[in-house]
Amino acid sequence: MRLRLAGAVLLSAAAYYVYLPLPSGVSEPWKLMMLDALFRSFMQASDVAHAMGVCHRVHLLNRVVSWVEVIEARSSPAVNVTDSALGGIPTRVFHPIRGERLKRGVIYFHGGGWALGSGRMRSYDHLCRKMAEDLDAVVMSVDYRLAPEAVFPDQYHDAIAASRAFLSTEVLEHYSIDPERVCVSGDSAGGNLAAAVAQKLSSDDTLKVKFKAQALIYPVLQALDFHTPSYQQNQAVPILYRPVMARFWLQYLGGNTSLEPLLLANNHSSLDESGISAETRSKLNWTALLPAERRKHFRPVLKETGSPGVVGEVPGLTDVRASPLLAEQGVLGRTPKAYVMTCEFDVLRDDGLMYARRLQDAGVTVTSDHYEDGFHGCMVFAYLPMMSSVGRRSMNNYIRWLDQNL
Ligand SMILES: *[C@@H]1O[C@H](CO)[C@@H](O)[C@H](O)[C@H]1NC(C)=O
Ligand SMILES: *[C@@H]1O[C@H](CO)[C@@H](O)[C@H](O)[C@H]1NC(C)=O
Ligand SMILES: *[C@@H]1O[C@H](CO)[C@@H](O)[C@H](O)[C@H]1NC(C)=O
Ligand SMILES: *[C@@H]1O[C@H](CO)[C@@H](O)[C@H](O)[C@H]1NC(C)=O
Repeated sequence: MRLRLAGAVLLSAAAYYVYLPLPSGVSEPWKLMMLDALFRSFMQASDVAHAMGVCHRVHLLNRVVSWVEVIEARSSPAVNVTDSALGGIPTRVFHPIRGERLKRGVIYFHGGGWALGSGRMRSYDHLCRKMAEDLDAVVMSVDYRLAPEAVFPDQYHDAIAASRAFLSTEVLEHYSIDPERVCVSGDSAGGNLAAAVAQKLSSDDTLKVKFKAQALIYPVLQALDFHTPSYQQNQAVPILYRPVMARFWLQYLGGNTSLEPLLLANNHSSLDESGISAETRSKLNWTALLPAERRKHFRPVLKETGSPGVVGEVPGLTDVRASPLLAEQGVLGRTPKAYVMTCEFDVLRDDGLMYARRLQDAGVTVTSDHYEDGFHGCMVFAYLPMMSSVGRRSMNNYIRWLDQNL
């Protein structure tokens, strides 16, 4: 009897920990809750270790992730998998063994807030393996340096260096990649790097080989407005909570993490901040860039007075290499045709939607693929035990788009 009672108490405590009120419409809410409980327990454990001075929270998280998730490079009968380097940057290469002699090429940047994750993780390994098989493509998954040791522009420079090497004649010939069929892609913070790479390399006239396509999966693209309708609507939706994104940004840009509440209040982009021009503001003005059905009832949070000087202190906030949404129209217009995936239940939804709109305005052919029941991370978590239907759907559509456009 006492055992049963204790069991019931434990079970309800666990259910209380896992249960989270989620918006109706999100794909398979219980699976998302389980995923969130897993992430939250890791986060909390690493916060405790951080507070106790055991180690930096990011290091503990990365160690746990490596222990659970990083797998050896293992070839299958269909795909040869090797760990190599591209422009000096560690890279896992997936090479289809059969198929055409000349293959498509994809360079991929993993997500994780510029601080977590690896192309050697099970989830990314599975994704890239599947892409290699389904697309008959050589896929290169890049392990760029991570925060807090590396801060902007290190990650960006690694992404550029790896991409330049990828597009070089030596690499294309060595791996039998068709120079007319190469693509840059990534999810979340990796989508940010992919967009930044596409901008930089499309405008570089010294390069002979250009990307044919850019495929951006729920990318993060700006740090000046933490009150877009999607930030407001999804601030408490797992797994990417609004404050977590602000902290990732500060870590990436080398800003003091004590600035987090200020960023969340949009005090860093108040009207008295002279470091942000009217032209820059217009590039992320969602009242003009988003359709009414996404703006809903939300109102812009634009302070008359805030904390001028933060942009001077953290110059990366307005650097287009960190925030691809701030690019000039002319730069956007030179980038290749684009696939932009967005999820309704994701703080970054509007970053992606605004970027798709600005690319379109610049004359780029854009496929905007929106998931009404999607949440941040759903495509890559399609392989976890909590495999969600939206995860599987989005991955299939992403790969189909590449098949038809690359
Ligand atoms: C896989 O690639 C490595 C390195 O390029 C090569 O040495 C090896 O022979 C390849 N294996 C197969 C089965 O093609
Ligand atoms: C960050 O800001 C806090 C509070 O303003 C300050 O005490 C701390 O020294 C700062 N840290 C660094 C590394 O500048
Ligand atoms: C933001 O700025 C306002 C002034 O406009 C100030 O009252 C408020 O305390 C600031 N908030 C933060 C978190 O810095
Ligand atoms: C944003 O666009 C709206 C509608 O075009 C306009 O009324 C508003 O002044 C713009 N705001 C900024 C900050 O540019």
